Amino acid sequence: MKKEQRGQWGSRFGFIMAAAGSAVGLGNIWRFPYLAGENGGGAFILIYLIFVVLIGMSVMLTEFAVGRMTDTAAVGSFRSIDNRWTFAGVLGVLSAFFIMGFYPVVGGWAIAYIYKSATGLLAAPDAIGDSFGAFITSTYEPLIWTAIFLFLNVVVVIRGISKGIEAAGKILMPMLFVLLIVIIGKGLTLPNAGAGLKFLFSPDFSKVNGEMLLAALGQAFFSLSLGMGCMITYGSYLKKEENLPANTFIVSGLDTLVALMAGLAIFPALFSFGMEPTAGPGLVFVVVPTIFAKMGGIGVILSLIFFIALFVAALTSSVSLLEVAASYFIDERGWSRSKAVISVATVMIVLCILASLSLGAMSEMPIPVLGVGTFDLLDILTDKIFLAIGGVLVTVFAGWFVKKEDLKNEITNNGSVSFGLFNVWYTLVKYVIPIVISIVALVGIFGIEQKAVMILGLAIIAVLAIFSKKL
Ligand code: TRP
Repeated sequence: MKKEQRGQWGSRFGFIMAAAGSAVGLGNIWRFPYLAGENGGGAFILIYLIFVVLIGMSVMLTEFAVGRMTDTAAVGSFRSIDNRWTFAGVLGVLSAFFIMGFYPVVGGWAIAYIYKSATGLLAAPDAIGDSFGAFITSTYEPLIWTAIFLFLNVVVVIRGISKGIEAAGKILMPMLFVLLIVIIGKGLTLPNAGAGLKFLFSPDFSKVNGEMLLAALGQAFFSLSLGMGCMITYGSYLKKEENLPANTFIVSGLDTLVALMAGLAIFPALFSFGMEPTAGPGLVFVVVPTIFAKMGGIGVILSLIFFIALFVAALTSSVSLLEVAASYFIDERGWSRSKAVISVATVMIVLCILASLSLGAMSEMPIPVLGVGTFDLLDILTDKIFLAIGGVLVTVFAGWFVKKEDLKNEITNNGSVSFGLFNVWYTLVKYVIPIVISIVALVGIFGIEQKAVMILGLAIIAVLAIFSKKL
């Protein structure tokens, strides 16, 4: 299909907002703060930043280049260069389904907390923790919010590349920035806010260990939307005259900036109120509203703003995941966009229902043999296994199966863009990154507590690789 027919980004700003919209999500505002909190703050953040610069940015540039070079989404990209690699694209599509099997559940919580902030959640600060627990374990209420969240995704993605995804990103992303700045301003002016800054920015290296390295690497991939063909797909809608290295720099820079902003929005206030940074996944939904509740009247407004920001960030990310899955059926199976989007979303809502119920009504009934609930299963499979392996696959593919000359032409727009770091990037992609990720990932994958899930994950990849030609 010609580019014009497949759809294309309308403008450079639009592309950057959409790609940054994909990257900036629950990963930055929900996950990054609680991981930093659990892993001792500064040292984790420093290591995370090193992984973003050394690994994340190079992998992002690789994905953009491979996508635009082939003009097709994830699966077609791999297939059109070397059909033995089709499975790497299919693994990405599968990851999109799996991430979308729990991401809308958390996205739904974000919408619910907008509503709850406005309707009295903050009136009883001491009950906020219990009410979060009661909410996510209840049967119907979270499902309604999840359905609303997924429905909004469908509406955006059905409208297509420039009118849907791009238009949403252009409005929502700048709004997110403003919202976070307002909250940071408030947090920094609280008494003892400096303790939060110290926690964030003065590294304590006694906290560094293998587990933390893996958490930082996984977080870098998840947060930058890498390792599953998402940025390949977005790159495929990109015009030939766009500067890929510059766009990579801007998108990963924005993603990192928002993660740090989320940290700044949360930790100074958290320390000011003498709370613990190690609350885990509940950090955003319990600690943050509690902080706001203690601020009195303005707290309600800030809480509203915060959860709107969280929802906005989640929506522009999940839209990219839905697009990866839908574009497979559009590009490879010739389905119409609406048929593809609706079919894919139907599968996702089923997974989401199971994931949401696995936290409550079905929490005593883990999946037989695997011993975990659906929510945890999908999370472990993607975050701990598929994304990292996807990162190894795309770099090995680009480094060893795509001609160096072709990559150079693509990245420099046939010589018209200068990219002095090309050889550095190429060496990283060909040798350094596959080795580094493999070491960190293997140690991590074999360290997964739930051995049956680990075996299932590796088996899925093996089966895909074996049957790749039929996919
Ligand atoms: N990056 C998003 C976040 O931080 C999530 C996301 C969107 C993602 N697309 C992805 C994660 C592709 C991995 C791969 O919330």
